[in-house]
Amino acid sequence: AATAVIVVAAGSGQRLGYGMPKAKVPLGGESILTHALRGVAAAGIARQICVAVPAGDEELELLCESFARDLGSGPHAASGGGGQVPVVTVVDGGTSRADSVRAALAALLPGTEAVLVHDAARALTPESVFHRVVAAIAAGAEAVIPVMPVVDTVKTVEPTTGESATVAPELVTGTAPRETLRAVQTPQGFALATLQRAHTAAAAFDAAQAAAVTDDAMLVELLGVPVHAVRGASQSLKITTPLDLIIAEGLLEGPLG
Ligand code: C5P
Repeated sequence: AATAVIVVAAGSGQRLGYGMPKAKVPLGGESILTHALRGVAAAGIARQICVAVPAGDEELELLCESFARDLGSGPHAASGGGGQVPVVTVVDGGTSRADSVRAALAALLPGTEAVLVHDAARALTPESVFHRVVAAIAAGAEAVIPVMPVVDTVKTVEPTTGESATVAPELVTGTAPRETLRAVQTPQGFALATLQRAHTAAAAFDAAQAAAVTDDAMLVELLGVPVHAVRGASQSLKITTPLDLIIAEGLLEGPLG
């Protein structure tokens, strides 16, 4: 299927504390976005890579353009299994991640059948994860996500009120059985029409509903479409905090021990 990969890279990166968009933060001497784009290209599955950057960020636009030039002539042209050299498109991202995805959806090439949405922050995602997601779509899935087992016990909580507020800030409301829980990663893959339908519905959300949207698959779940899960990878960690950056630097230095 003609596949596009949307790379969302329009986040502010506030939690990383670098005072710059996360996509620009250096990792092993190159930007997080460069690593992410290289991973997508190396997987060799994309006819188009559509990158959402912070609106008006010329530096990241130039980075994407120079990456596209290198793809055409450089070693990546050969490394993409199947030999396809993807078209690279850059769009202005929005205020929310979902807005950034919608902006990218509007810029996909005619004839696109399948789309993967990938966080630039998951810059070290192995090629094998892209291949598992694409294989599930090829096998007929309308939606597929890479997941990992959860190591921590996960509980739901609510803010404490009244007298208990003096004891602790939150009260536990329940414990989900851990064996049924999965931590969700990207790239998330979809039949294009399905993801478009999901994002059209979400464009009408009020502010509270919009704030609760943290991935694309949950929008597809709301349509009642089955979402399939394949194995993710620990290298796909979302670089969010300074600790994550230390882990990512360590991963670059050597294979997973
Ligand atoms: O903030 P969060 O962890 O959900 O960000 C996940 C990914 O979404 C990041 O790669 C970030 O750059 C992207 N994002 C975006 N546009 C936004 C917010 C986040 O492209 N407005």
